[in-house]
Amino acid sequence: MTSPLVALEGASLVYPGQSGPALCEVDFTLRPGEKIGVTGDNGSGKTSLLLALVGLRPLASGRLLHRGDEVRKSTQYHDLRREVGLVFQNCDDQLFSPTVIEDVAFGPLNLGLSSGEALAIASETLEALNMGHLENRLTHTLSGGQKRIVSLATALAMKPKALLLDEPTNDLDRTTRAMVQDFLHRSDLSLVLVSHDHDLTKAITTRIIHMEAGRVWPDS
Ligand SMILES: Nc1ncnc2c1ncn2[C@@H]1O[C@H](COP(=O)(O)OP(=O)(O)OP(=O)(O)O)[C@@H](O)[C@H]1O
Ligand SMILES: [Mg+2]
Repeated sequence: MTSPLVALEGASLVYPGQSGPALCEVDFTLRPGEKIGVTGDNGSGKTSLLLALVGLRPLASGRLLHRGDEVRKSTQYHDLRREVGLVFQNCDDQLFSPTVIEDVAFGPLNLGLSSGEALAIASETLEALNMGHLENRLTHTLSGGQKRIVSLATALAMKPKALLLDEPTNDLDRTTRAMVQDFLHRSDLSLVLVSHDHDLTKAITTRIIHMEAGRVWPDS
């Protein structure tokens, strides 16, 4: 069997000031090519699972593994986040540059590409999502749905191997939602898709897990 891209072993996560854990001894594995759907009620721990998978929240116990190795050093976190991109539930956590093109070019620039190369990738990525016309818009003036697509573009522009998507079709109209569904379905990216949109989850994922009170069913 192919070695996992990213995995959690017995992972628990506790937010400061909270009595119970947001994740409770979770085992989770994402292998190359897998597309995993995550369902569960509000507050069941779906966002916490994604944050834990890219090491944005420290584990109280358990292990985070990238390609089989435990992630402990900052260079290992960097390598993990280079391959596994996160699209946040709240777009304002993702977008911070003045204009759309700068936001999408930010990741590639950070990877060391020249400004010309980064802008070219940013343009291509927005074009692939039918959002080329937004390039020069001020990010803070975008609609909720437009911000959602630009957030996806910022993650895609990093050319990751896997994407963790936290409710990526919230705020989208039917046409844009269908475009995103088609894009993700055709893509060869590994995915973890958190969504309350059951049609989307059924259409693009290869297996579905369910979260309840910080636990995952079935374990993987
Ligand atoms: N920053 C935080 N500080 C304290 N508690 C938090 C924080 N973020 C989340 N929690 C708590 O952790 C638990 C899991 O939250 P999480 O955001 O992972 O749920 P979720 O399944 O993504 O919910 P939703 O469907 O509403 O997005 C909840 O009880 C929540 O109140
Ligand atoms: Mg959430």
